[in-house]
Amino acid sequence: MVSIQEVAKHNKKNDVWVIIHGKAYDVTEFLPSHPGGTKIIMRYAGADCTKKFDPVHPPDTLDKYLPKDKHLGEVTGGLGIKEEEKTIDPNELKRLDMVKRMPPLHQIYNLMDFEYVARHTMEANGWAYYSSGCDDEITLRENHYAYQRIYFIPRILVNVTNVDFTTTMLGCKSSVPFYVTATALGKLGHQDGEKVLTRSCGSHGVIQMIPTLASCSFDEIVDAALPDQDQWFQLYVNSNRKVTEKLVRHAEARGMKGLFITVDAPQLGRREKDMRSKYLADAAEVQDEENDGEIDRSQGAARAISSFIDTGLCWEDLKWFRSITNMPIVLKGVLSTEDALKAISCGVQGIVLSNHGGRQLEFSRSGIEILADLMPILHKRGLTDKIEVFVDGGVRRATDILKAIALGAKGVGIGRPFLYAMSTYGDNGVKKAFQILKDELLMNMRLLGVTSLDQLNEDYVDTRGLLNRFNAGDELFHKVYEPLDNPKFKPKL
Ligand SMILES: Cc1cc2nc3c(=O)[nH]c(=O)nc-3n(C[C@H](O)[C@H](O)[C@H](O)COP(=O)(O)O)c2cc1C
Repeated sequence: MVSIQEVAKHNKKNDVWVIIHGKAYDVTEFLPSHPGGTKIIMRYAGADCTKKFDPVHPPDTLDKYLPKDKHLGEVTGGLGIKEEEKTIDPNELKRLDMVKRMPPLHQIYNLMDFEYVARHTMEANGWAYYSSGCDDEITLRENHYAYQRIYFIPRILVNVTNVDFTTTMLGCKSSVPFYVTATALGKLGHQDGEKVLTRSCGSHGVIQMIPTLASCSFDEIVDAALPDQDQWFQLYVNSNRKVTEKLVRHAEARGMKGLFITVDAPQLGRREKDMRSKYLADAAEVQDEENDGEIDRSQGAARAISSFIDTGLCWEDLKWFRSITNMPIVLKGVLSTEDALKAISCGVQGIVLSNHGGRQLEFSRSGIEILADLMPILHKRGLTDKIEVFVDGGVRRATDILKAIALGAKGVGIGRPFLYAMSTYGDNGVKKAFQILKDELLMNMRLLGVTSLDQLNEDYVDTRGLLNRFNAGDELFHKVYEPLDNPKFKPKL
């Protein structure tokens, strides 16, 4: 047992204690090696940091990384909340009011509706982390617009009474041709984090890709799945290959049915919305002594958690991955036909044409545009059965999914919409999002004149507009898309 008053005394760089879930920890020696930097810990030195800690650290973190003698025991005498945290700012009051007045779930008609509610009700840091893209967010918007340049060429007078949109991806049966792609830090949106997605996927027969940087521990997420529920594992490759190997072997041992190696993130993109939100949230933060009293302009949640990613990862490493796992290997983040062909020659089982939801290289092309380039080449060279091609980024309607399937994708990944559904309405929200897409799939397949996904091919789509990068005005999108902000002037003196 340790008193709250005692903890409060340990608030200097050479002597730091913090409180997490009612227990005190001595993090003095750990401070220099904290992947998120020292400043964020110093902000909570001598006080309770549970709220900041939870979204970014799986629950087993302290047991894994902090020696037992630094676990100081239960804290007595109330919560160690810092004074600045007790005053709620007016924006937060407005947000809390809107949380109370959220539209009922039955008024949510499409995936954009979730995003609209999330924009008004999510905590600022979570919203900024989820919604942000890189640089000017041109690629983020382009992902959405690209689908609007493809039109359908339907068939009429087909008996469409029975429609089947089930499919198989990497040998896993799925009730739908989409999957929940890997997105980090689920607890920024919901206290149960990624487990909300797991449970919803279980109840709807949807495949979930578990992120390396989940808020929940990997095992918690696997344990939340039904016995026969298929999951894949997304891997950020750690420069310490022993760590990577352990993760991969553990993932396979726990029944993962696919290893998605993220190959588009040797460095994380610059996500200014995320950075600015971090800056505003931390404006009251400790002054950075090493920086002439300037406030710490931290790089936002994304960079804080990603410093371990191996910048040296290259094609030659794929042989090593093959030697340590029997899981199908999929490269996530392929952006050119050249690399897609290389991936086939390296013998991987799949690729995801993806620009990471517009969060990495600005001005990378959308996955759907690359798909339209790639598939005719694969057909011509007789390579279509050598690899499964997936696509993600900007998918918001079943029509988007069906366009990708018609162009040869095995399935599509969807990221943010399920995060927003989770952050607003929890399990019921994600389940509703799945149901909306299922209803849209049924209706649109009937209207296209197809009764199963294998009937769709490039003859069902007109892609002539694809390369004219204009965009049709999209009112729903513009209402939910939050433009980048500018720097804030200091308050009047
Ligand atoms: C908040 C957020 C976190 C993400 N985290 C990861 C990650 O940890 N690993 C990864 O490979 N991709 C990550 N992605 C990229 C997604 O897997 C996917 O490529 C992207 O979200 C698809 O675009 P969409 O959000 O428009 O559907 C993330 C995307 C978002 C929005």
